[in-house]
Amino acid sequence: MDHQEADFPSVRLRRLRRTPALRDAFTETRLDPADLVLPIFVKDGLEGHQPVASLPGVSQHGVASAVDLAKRAAASGVRSFLLFGIPSVKDPVGSSGWDPAGPVPSATRAIREAMGDDVVLWADVCSCEYTDHGHCGPLDDDGQVLNDEAIYGYLRESLAYAEAGIDIVAPSGMMDGQVAVIRNGLDDAGFGDVAIVAYAAKYASAFYGPFRDVAESQMAAGDRRSHQMAPANRREAIREIDLDVREGADVIMVKPALPYLDVVADAARDHPLPVAAYHVSGEHAMLVAAAERGILDLDAATLEAHVAIKRAGADLVITYAAEHVAGLLARP
Ligand code: PBG
Repeated sequence: MDHQEADFPSVRLRRLRRTPALRDAFTETRLDPADLVLPIFVKDGLEGHQPVASLPGVSQHGVASAVDLAKRAAASGVRSFLLFGIPSVKDPVGSSGWDPAGPVPSATRAIREAMGDDVVLWADVCSCEYTDHGHCGPLDDDGQVLNDEAIYGYLRESLAYAEAGIDIVAPSGMMDGQVAVIRNGLDDAGFGDVAIVAYAAKYASAFYGPFRDVAESQMAAGDRRSHQMAPANRREAIREIDLDVREGADVIMVKPALPYLDVVADAARDHPLPVAAYHVSGEHAMLVAAAERGILDLDAATLEAHVAIKRAGADLVITYAAEHVAGLLARP
C-alpha cells in the first residue's frame, strides 16, 4: 500500500519545501551577524598583524591592527569581540594578565575610543596565556593548578579589564567558585555593570590545539583534566551550569560547540539565561583544512555548522568565521 491509499490524509512534508520562497518562509532558525562574536588576539608590542599557520585566516594583532579589524568586522554587522592577550612577559603566576598596560586593557581602550558603545567588548579571563608553564593559574608542588590562587588572578585581570572599559568578562579557567568571586569583586569595586559570561561547561578538548598556537599558551607539561570537564559527561555539565547561574553568571557558555550540541540543548532548556556556544579553533580548522583539500564546500559547511549550533539552542556563537558568515548572509 502506498501512502496515498492510507486511511489518513496524505502527509507531505515536501509541500512546504517546494520553492525557495516556501523554504524561506518556513525556516525555523535564522542566523544574523549580531549573533556572532569574533575572537581577537592582541599581542603586546606587535606592529600590524601576524598570521598563524595552524589557524588559517586568523592573525595575532597589534593594538592598532585590532582596531582596524574591529572596524572592518563591524561594517559586516559583527559588533561583538572576544579579546585574548599575548603578553611579552610570562611568570609562574601570570601577573602580566593584570597589567593595566597589557594587551587586553590597551586594546579595550583603543577599540572603545574608536567605536564607543557601538561594539560589545568581551575579555577572556584566564592565566594560561600569562604563565610561563602555560597552566591556568599558579601550581602546587604536584603541578596541579591551585584553585583559589588562580581565582585571585582572574579577579585581578577582571578588575584591570573593567577599569579599561570592558563590557563583559568571560572567565574560562574552570576553577570552582570563580564566578562568585569575580562577581563580588567587581561589585565591590564599583563595576556592577560589567557582565559575566561563564564558560560554564568547558570540556578538556583536543579541539583547542590550534588556539594554543595562536594564543601562545602551550603547556610545558600536563593537561587540563583536573579542572576542565570530561568529554563523556553530560549530566555533570548541568551541575556546572547550575552553580555558575547561582554564582551570578549573566550568560552561560558551552565549549566546544559542534561535538557538544546535546549540552547546548540542555543549557538552553534548563535555564532562561542567554546561551553562548564557542565554535572552537579545532572545529574551525577542520572545516578549512577539508575545504583546502577539496573535500568540503567551505561556504556551505560553514553556514550549516553555525545554523546547527543555533538550532541546538545557542543564542550567540563565538566563531573565527564570524566575518565569513556575515559575508555569506549578506549575499542576495
Ligand atoms: C583558555 C582558553 C582556551 C580557549 C579559549 N580560552 C584554551 C584552553 O582552555 O586550553 C580555546 C579556544 C579555541 O580553541 O578556539 N584561556
